[in-house]
Amino acid sequence: MKAIAYNNFGNTDVLQISEQAKPSVQSNQVLVRVKAFSINPMDWKIRKGEMKLMSGSKFPKNTGADFAGIIEDTGSSVNGFKIGDEVFGVVKNLMKEGASSEYVAVPSYLVWKKPEKISFSQAASIPVVGTAAVTAIEKMGKINPQTTILVNGATGGFGTFLLQLLKQYGADVTAVTSSKGIEYAEKWGANKVIDYTKENVLLQKTTYDIVIDLSGKMGYKNAKAIMNTKSLFLNPTPQPIEIPLSLLKNLFTAKKHVVVLSSPGTNYTNILLNAVKKGVDIEVHKVFSFEQYIEAYQYAEKGGYIGKIAIEI
Ligand SMILES: NC(=O)c1ccc[n+]([C@@H]2O[C@H](COP(=O)([O-])OP(=O)(O)OC[C@H]3O[C@@H](n4cnc5c(N)ncnc54)[C@H](OP(=O)(O)O)[C@@H]3O)[C@@H](O)[C@H]2O)c1
Repeated sequence: MKAIAYNNFGNTDVLQISEQAKPSVQSNQVLVRVKAFSINPMDWKIRKGEMKLMSGSKFPKNTGADFAGIIEDTGSSVNGFKIGDEVFGVVKNLMKEGASSEYVAVPSYLVWKKPEKISFSQAASIPVVGTAAVTAIEKMGKINPQTTILVNGATGGFGTFLLQLLKQYGADVTAVTSSKGIEYAEKWGANKVIDYTKENVLLQKTTYDIVIDLSGKMGYKNAKAIMNTKSLFLNPTPQPIEIPLSLLKNLFTAKKHVVVLSSPGTNYTNILLNAVKKGVDIEVHKVFSFEQYIEAYQYAEKGGYIGKIAIEI
């Protein structure tokens, strides 16, 4: 089978289409013929060697974590799925495996039936960012319509889900986005929108109960200026050292630094499938073909778009 893989850490030029053995299923696995997989910032962070501690340095590496496709085979102990089912899912080890191939074999607990009303590219855009959004809301603790939340970087994949899920709580959400994202942030439920190309959110007088930074550019130190005395700063892009350090630092300050690390699973996906049923928007900005993989990754890494980028096979 064909796979997009790489043999060294680096920029998009290390990616290539290579021939790999088609996987066969273990008893608890399903074999999926991949129709689409989506691109996440994690893909290029791993490829550039920025996450070596977790990804390891074993090559070749495939890329892309979440996918959608059609079941082609099921292991002997798999229940609830049959050949021909349209599904979406995620690879087991997000740091070491990839879905960028014509077939993937994954445990059946990491695969869910694809709702008919969404495309393969939309379904492949759910697990990583959707789970991250649900995890972030869990970390926020009790929220109500009076809770003021600032979402910095609100119209990427993660923000798309976060804004729409937060709307269900009626929280008072301020979204920070580029000019292009304003109408989307409003549509997805933000009470207020700040255009970061025109206004520096750190220089305004308002403070928030919760600040979540999805751009990876704000940082806890800067965010303190717009936090209340007992605010939370949610960080889904921590440096490895920040994970233990934040626990220690939190002992001495009321302004807490909370790391968000998510891992897709059935509980989260049921919440997301329910949200899809209720009509949550899954914005896929652009779909590339398998052969356009370099262009797709260059486009995704450059940023400046709303929602997700997907590759269809
Ligand atoms: N910890 C976890 O479990 C977990 C899970 C999923 C994702 N993540 C991380 O969470 C982050 C967000 O993920 P994502 O998929 O949403 O990424 P994304 O689609 O690239 O979104 C990032 C957003 O940040 C915005 N942005 C860029 N510069 C900004 C600035 N100076 N001020 C405010 N906003 C700015 C971008 O807008 P423009 O493009 O318009 O500039 C974009 O909408 C990534 O770093 C990802 O790796 C972590």
